[in-house]
Amino acid sequence: MRIDIVTGLPKLLESPFEESILKRGQEKEKIQLVVHDLREYAHDKHKTIDDTPYGGGAGMVLKPEPIFECVEQLCRERAYDEIILLSPGGEKFDQRLANDLSLKTNLLLICGHYKGVDERVREALVTREISIGDYVLTGGELAAAVLVDSIARLVPGVLNDSESALSDSFQDGLLGWPEYTRPPEYRGKKVPEVLLSGDHADIQEWRERQRLERTKTRRSDLLNTDPFR
Ligand code: ADE
Repeated sequence: MRIDIVTGLPKLLESPFEESILKRGQEKEKIQLVVHDLREYAHDKHKTIDDTPYGGGAGMVLKPEPIFECVEQLCRERAYDEIILLSPGGEKFDQRLANDLSLKTNLLLICGHYKGVDERVREALVTREISIGDYVLTGGELAAAVLVDSIARLVPGVLNDSESALSDSFQDGLLGWPEYTRPPEYRGKKVPEVLLSGDHADIQEWRERQRLERTKTRRSDLLNTDPFR
């Protein structure tokens, strides 16, 4: 899978893609992440990518020309399954959407910034608009990093067997069970006996009960939604 990301702030995306599982996924050539600097598509000597909004008001709006030129250039090179604008006004991102997007071959993400993006970008280029939650970030870059991280780890071969995404919280609509590691007692708190018993059936039963209990108390809304919707 290849994901291209168009941004006015490419530095914001450097370190998230250069660590841990995303780094390894790229090294193993399971995923290709390519960041494009919008300023390279600006025409004036100041490399302007934003301007004041028509009609007045606070903040700056991303200009259409650099985004159109960058996206059109990329579309000449390959066909994209989706061209996604990150913005707080988009459909809410969740595990189901991450699963769907992880099945695609080429994704193009556009990071909105400042006050917004010229509406003509939305009308002509974007196939889907996604928000990572009901709060406003200063731009779409951190949201793009969230999307990339959650999608890339679902691509076959990115995680190894012991990290398998199939046992993730949310994959079947429930939260995860409590995990413990050594030592068996720390500051007077003991690891539950069953986990030390070596009885796999008992352990599995305990874990499933814990997940259900946790989901009921913390996120009862999840119990009323079909995870395979
Ligand atoms: N840009 C600003 N806020 C955002 C959000 N919540 N999701 C995606 N992109 C954003």
